[in-house]
Amino acid sequence: MDKRHIAILGSTGSIGTQALDVVAQHPDLFEVELLTANNNSRLLIEQARRFKPNAVVICNEEKYVEVSEALDPLYIKVFTGIESVCDIVAGSGVDMVLTAMVGFSGLKPTVAAIRAGKAIALANKETLVAAGELIMSLSRECKAPIIPVDSEHSAIFQCLQGENADIEKLLLTGSGGPFRDFSQEEMSSVTREMALNHPRWKMGPKVTIDSASLMNKGLEVIEARWLFGVRPQDIEVVIHPQSIIHSMVQFTDGSVIAQMSNPDMRVPIQYALTYPRRTTLNNSRLDFPTLAQLTFEKPDTRKFPCLKLAYEALSCGGNATCILNGANEVAVKAFLEGRIRFTSIPSLIEETLAEGTFIKKPALEDIFSTDFEAKRIAAEKLRKFLI
Ligand SMILES: NC(=O)c1ccc[n+]([C@@H]2O[C@H](COP(=O)([O-])OP(=O)(O)OC[C@H]3O[C@@H](n4cnc5c(N)ncnc54)[C@H](OP(=O)(O)O)[C@@H]3O)[C@@H](O)[C@H]2O)c1
Repeated sequence: MDKRHIAILGSTGSIGTQALDVVAQHPDLFEVELLTANNNSRLLIEQARRFKPNAVVICNEEKYVEVSEALDPLYIKVFTGIESVCDIVAGSGVDMVLTAMVGFSGLKPTVAAIRAGKAIALANKETLVAAGELIMSLSRECKAPIIPVDSEHSAIFQCLQGENADIEKLLLTGSGGPFRDFSQEEMSSVTREMALNHPRWKMGPKVTIDSASLMNKGLEVIEARWLFGVRPQDIEVVIHPQSIIHSMVQFTDGSVIAQMSNPDMRVPIQYALTYPRRTTLNNSRLDFPTLAQLTFEKPDTRKFPCLKLAYEALSCGGNATCILNGANEVAVKAFLEGRIRFTSIPSLIEETLAEGTFIKKPALEDIFSTDFEAKRIAAEKLRKFLI
């Protein structure tokens, strides 16, 4: 494989730091062109000193001088603001863009990279939740392949390699999060600390809360619908607490193919970065005799209404999933700030979905205005749910 010149958007986050670990294991395969962060200037400077990118972007303007003074002596270009990210990912020095920013903020630079025909290693699921149909058609038009990084979608993508048969069903697995065995009553007293303590994965705060509410699984159903072109009713969520099977594909002959490994995001990150090649990774291996059991159950959508809301928004079509995403971002932020209860997250989303302006065939500009409106409505409605 020729050396790939990669841009890592959100290099200071959970996915970004694990991606740099993969890069460090394969200096012969990758050249880091760009690293970006929002606030964490200290870690960005440290990463830049080690990986020597051509450029870095610190999105928060207030941190620009600090980063610039630290990296100027190393001849690393320093920029600020999201527009700089959009310009650099579209430049000729970049082959592949890993989108590991969190939330709707990932959409703009992903669009810029796709328009420039760059290969996308997509971790930022919110991009497809907000604008899946538009993004997939833009990716086809600009010949910019989208390779999934989310472990479930990477699993499905891996199961589909070499297959040209019809998919009957996607089986999207999920651990069920920390509250799988909680009663309805116990759910109302969930704290921020309890929700941030995920049993299987160490992730950024937003995706950890989404995992606890099962909204993450809902966002993943939407992501899978667009990545693999299947109908919502052909995507089944299966709770699998051990997180060994990362997802499965059922074909029309009744065969089911699964992808397995110990839970380690570096596996799907590396697969996306090296695709179509599979290469070595220094991580732990499955030891089947010591795996006591692999269990499966149905998700409880009465206890976890976010999953049901995501399916409903997907069935509505248009910009409904963008409204869902915007409202969820507001709700999760408020919960993390200790302003609303865990159980108010789905209520706030449901009320915002009912009030947001529905657009059947949104253009990209409509997606930005929908996100803005959904966040405004959710912020107003939030008052009712304040603790
Ligand atoms: N973590 C996982 O295991 C995992 C698994 C599957 C999918 N994903 C998806 O991957 C994405 C990243 O998740 P994560 O867990 O890595 O998140 P994270 O740890 O919170 O990291 C987010 C990264 O994005 C940057 N960022 C945040 N807001 C930004 C903004 N407004 N503008 C520019 N940069 C911004 C952060 O910079 P600062 O550090 O400077 O704030 C950080 O580098 C999410 O979409 C998530 O759903 C994550």
